Amino acid sequence: MKRAIIYLLCYLCMGLCHLSSKTKHVCAIEEPSYGVVRSESEFEIRLYNESSWMSASVRGSSFNLSIAIGFRRLYQYIQGANLNSSHIAFTAPILTSIASSSTSSSSGNVEYTVRFYMSPKYKGNPPESNPELKLHLDKWNSHCVAVRKFSGFARDDNIDKEIKALVSSINTHFPPGDSAVIQDKGSYAIAQYNGSHKLSGRLNEAWVTISGSSVVGCPTPK
Ligand SMILES: *[C@@H]1O[C@H](CO)[C@@H](O)[C@H](O)[C@H]1NC(C)=O
Ligand SMILES: *[C@@H]1O[C@H](CO)[C@@H](O)[C@H](O)[C@H]1NC(C)=O
Ligand SMILES: *[C@@H]1O[C@H](CO)[C@@H](O)[C@H](O)[C@H]1NC(C)=O
Ligand SMILES: *[C@@H]1O[C@H](CO)[C@@H](O)[C@H](O)[C@H]1NC(C)=O
Repeated sequence: MKRAIIYLLCYLCMGLCHLSSKTKHVCAIEEPSYGVVRSESEFEIRLYNESSWMSASVRGSSFNLSIAIGFRRLYQYIQGANLNSSHIAFTAPILTSIASSSTSSSSGNVEYTVRFYMSPKYKGNPPESNPELKLHLDKWNSHCVAVRKFSGFARDDNIDKEIKALVSSINTHFPPGDSAVIQDKGSYAIAQYNGSHKLSGRLNEAWVTISGSSVVGCPTPK
């Protein structure tokens, strides 16, 4: 089901690009803007501008399955299931937050929040979603995120490893006692940039929100 939806989606995107190829930059997929405030070999710290995300919460035990369920609701929203009946251009990444007391999903009941980045052209007020989709709009202030890139497909069996590697690199690059830079120990996210029809050259990222207390260039949280 998920595969079918993403195939369809990419097909539609390509079609749109052809139709509107006279207008420049129409095919460029919008991504949230950021600056890099610190760069290490295995991760970087980015300062993201303020951003809004349309979000679908899914409770479950599988990352794959929860994304498929959440993405389906978001896809209906961008295809016109909103109070303005607007078609909304695809953006990247699809950002899925994983909130649990541990990063392991084996406990069975994890809260996944699948998010779709809303273009700044909506100025934080995108069309409201149809209520039955149970989406909500999250508005984020400018904040810092530690990011570790990885290739291939993000799956239940590799995301924990990537998140743990990110947390461990952060801990080695900040002096002992400073590990409190990780803002919310129970909350991590996986950013996915490519549709599932792309088999190679895929980009994913593990994200951890960090506070500014010991990172030059990051805002100090209120
Ligand atoms: C950050 O967002 C604000 C408001 O959306 C915008 O005016 C500003 O140009 C953005 N800054 C960057 C660096 O993208
Ligand atoms: C999740 O992905 C893995 C690897 O691609 C696959 O083996 C598994 O069946 C998927 N699970 C679900 C629920 O889609
Ligand atoms: C959606 O429709 C309402 C009512 O017609 C309008 O006020 C609003 O500006 C529209 N929003 C967008 C993002 O088009
Ligand atoms: C995947 O997405 C990233 C980020 O947008 C892009 O740089 C890369 O070229 C994409 N990969 C493929 C195979 O399209």
